[in-house]
Amino acid sequence: MQTFNDPIRLQQMIRQWRSEGLKVAFVPTMGNLHDGHIELVHQARARADKVVASIFVNPMQFGEGEDLDAYPRTLEADQQRLVSAGCDLLFTPEAALLYPGGLQVQTYIEVPSLTTIHCGSSRPGHFRGVATVVCKLFNLVQPDLACFGNKDYQQLAVIRTLVRDLNMPVQILGVDTVRDPDGLAMSSRNGYLTEAERAIAPGLKRTLDALADILRAEGVTRRATLEQLSEQRLQESGFRPDFIRICHADTLQPAEPGDSQLVILAAAYLGQARLIDNLTVEIR
Ligand code: PAJ
Repeated sequence: MQTFNDPIRLQQMIRQWRSEGLKVAFVPTMGNLHDGHIELVHQARARADKVVASIFVNPMQFGEGEDLDAYPRTLEADQQRLVSAGCDLLFTPEAALLYPGGLQVQTYIEVPSLTTIHCGSSRPGHFRGVATVVCKLFNLVQPDLACFGNKDYQQLAVIRTLVRDLNMPVQILGVDTVRDPDGLAMSSRNGYLTEAERAIAPGLKRTLDALADILRAEGVTRRATLEQLSEQRLQESGFRPDFIRICHADTLQPAEPGDSQLVILAAAYLGQARLIDNLTVEIR
């Protein structure tokens, strides 16, 4: 596996692959790779001839007071994991390449119906930063296929929408959330948890499971009450809940009675960490 931070060398390599008729898949990340990221590489590997990953801790998607500086940077270990997973090329752009004039760029990607709700209202500007950098990375890599985790459900919805709205010639694949054996969704931010917090953390998924069982039994008849009860349950387990919402799986708007494709979105603070998780629920 070669690692390039120079986009010219990256593009030379990819152009050569394309001239040979090879299909290129792309896995964008912020590094500190865990089994969830590696599953994306495996899924990419299974669907394309060449796999490109990127590691870039994107300053534009971090708000003031968030963990940009503390975000774990573990390049050597990441490279080893990518080699073992069969990645062909790692792109590690410098911030100066993506933001030559600093973060106050003139052109942003906004998907207002999706970027201002849920995590977007708790983290203003976050999804604009994600959408903008993903668009830049797609332009640099020009992949046929790009893989994203369902773990970041709202992020994936934003990306699917921008790709469709801008006619970008890339297929988007959503990959199931990889979890620790006790149910906690893997995340680079789990590293912020103390031992005591780590013991509490699986309660987030358990709360989603319990809510999903109720929804499957009774449908969407008392959405607000169930959301409140679930938040209370999180609080009692030691979380500081940000939100837990029962939404329509595509629009992410509040679910209505009669909706059959749902997603429960949850975000909660535990110590220093802001954990997110979600569960899709089908009502028959
Ligand atoms: P990062 O948090 O590093 O995640 C990179 C990719 O891995 C995302 O598509 C994310 O959904 C996926 N992922 C994370 N945890 C996962 C898990 N437990 N199971 C499956 N997939 C998982 O998401 C970002 O970086 C950034 O916002 C990025 C898209 C790279 C733009 O900067």
